[in-house]
Amino acid sequence: MADAWWKNSVVYQIYPQSFKDSNGDGVGDLNGIKEKLPYLHKLGIDVIWLNPIYESPLVDNGYDISDYERILSIYGTMEDFQELLAEAHKLEIKIILDLVVNHTSDKHSWFIESRKNKNNPYSDYYIWKDPKPDGSEPNNWGSTFGGSAWEYVPERNQYYLHCFAKEQPDLNWENPTVRQEIQKMMTKWFDLGIDGFRMDVITLISKRQDYPDAPGGVPYTKSYYVGASNGPRVHEFLHELNQEVLSRYNVMTVGEAPNTNSDQALQYTLPENEELNMVFHFDHMHLDYGRYGKFSDIRFKVSDLKSVLTEWQLKLEKGWNSLYWSNHDQPRAVTRFGDDGEFRVQSAKMLATLLHMMKGTPYVFQGEELGMKNVHFDSVENYKDIETKYFYELMKENGESSSYINNSIYLKSRDNARTPFPWNGNKEEGYGFSSGNPWIQYSPDNSSINAEACLEDSNSIFYYYQKLISLRRDYPIIIHGKYELINEEDSDVFSYVREYNKQILLIVCSFSKKPTTSQVPSKLIGRQVKHLIGNYESELKQLPKFFELKPFEAQVFLIEQ
Ligand code: NOJ
Repeated sequence: MADAWWKNSVVYQIYPQSFKDSNGDGVGDLNGIKEKLPYLHKLGIDVIWLNPIYESPLVDNGYDISDYERILSIYGTMEDFQELLAEAHKLEIKIILDLVVNHTSDKHSWFIESRKNKNNPYSDYYIWKDPKPDGSEPNNWGSTFGGSAWEYVPERNQYYLHCFAKEQPDLNWENPTVRQEIQKMMTKWFDLGIDGFRMDVITLISKRQDYPDAPGGVPYTKSYYVGASNGPRVHEFLHELNQEVLSRYNVMTVGEAPNTNSDQALQYTLPENEELNMVFHFDHMHLDYGRYGKFSDIRFKVSDLKSVLTEWQLKLEKGWNSLYWSNHDQPRAVTRFGDDGEFRVQSAKMLATLLHMMKGTPYVFQGEELGMKNVHFDSVENYKDIETKYFYELMKENGESSSYINNSIYLKSRDNARTPFPWNGNKEEGYGFSSGNPWIQYSPDNSSINAEACLEDSNSIFYYYQKLISLRRDYPIIIHGKYELINEEDSDVFSYVREYNKQILLIVCSFSKKPTTSQVPSKLIGRQVKHLIGNYESELKQLPKFFELKPFEAQVFLIEQ
């Protein structure tokens, strides 16, 4: 049987607000994306994942949806979307959308009705609970963007649950009508021809019905996990979604899976369980967490990265992995895991090599292929993100030093990923993004880091990604090979092999700013190799005992058994 297409694919993530503005209003849009399809085709990607494009008051940049079946007008119209889809399909590029069904916007008509009283058709679409006898919240859960996870509504004399902002009420998946509404909506999108969904915080949809208090010591903004993550009916709900909708189409699904370990992820992705194709886990994103969770100035350790990524490679052998360094919620990878100064280009290529040679479906976040780095915003007021604003205030209230606050926000704010895509280096032209005022400030690095410059330089990060993506088509070992970590003790170099059909792929990636050496496994010493790709030239034909590696060097060799 042929492989599922999503196993052979590379996905490119587009943050619509920040990709390309076609009409000068300062906000990216669907026609802008359509205009840039040739660029994506050149890069060689197979699938586009679009962050939410539906009608929304944009309290959380579209993750608060007020109508699932309408396109937000600043992005365009349904006709624009259909044209974009058709044009992409002509280039054999698929499009997946973001499915945000743990919660809606409080401006969704379902919620507007639901909050009115306890006896209307929408009363049970959301999670309503009576106050405690003293009038306080039903339990002690905090919400992701600050404050209690419960909001009081006098009309019902009840609280509703919101794991995120209070403008993002959680849907009640216990109600079969809610599940049917979601299935109906998904079916409409599939009938329109979309190729799949990325499913927002999908591991949160089933809540423990006893709504227990969170134990002490749990970070407040994530304390709802105790009763809301990987809940009792989550597998049942996803299986139902699969049977009722997904299995009827040749589509892909990737579930965002906060607070999910590799054993749980396997259950979501095992083909025989018929739930999801793959999930996004966060274990490697947590390696630099501190006392405010992600807002810290801690640097990850290579040894931790090795053990986390290796665990997921091995555990999901029978499921499937999604591979990513960055997305719209994370800082820029080259700043976080590489070196965004002297070795920006080399380390961006090294990180790409490490990820794209692993087993799973790689995701490229817009600008990663240019080596975009974190942004020094002109002032704190220029940050737009609801999460950044909350943590900024919290850290200030707690008396943290301004250097800690500014540094942790610079290192971790989601807005690092959301500045407009620099199509060229010309400020007067809005860097090719927009002829108007951009909705969020431009990165000050755009004049040197931009698409035009990358496309003109045959040695650029862009062309390196292009080559990595094309190797995946030519070498099935990249898709199927069995993973094994080597040189586990090496503190600076992350090396592994893949094995498939009498072939071995050897991947060597240095995280060191200095030249370093790395041992070649004894069984491979002296073997003839074919050099597939590397961020420095290599003439190697035969494996030595040691590699002499330059700063952030990455090399990939193929060995025929
Ligand atoms: C995860 C999304 O990626 C993030 O951007 C959003 O704020 C939350 N889910 C809530 O939908």
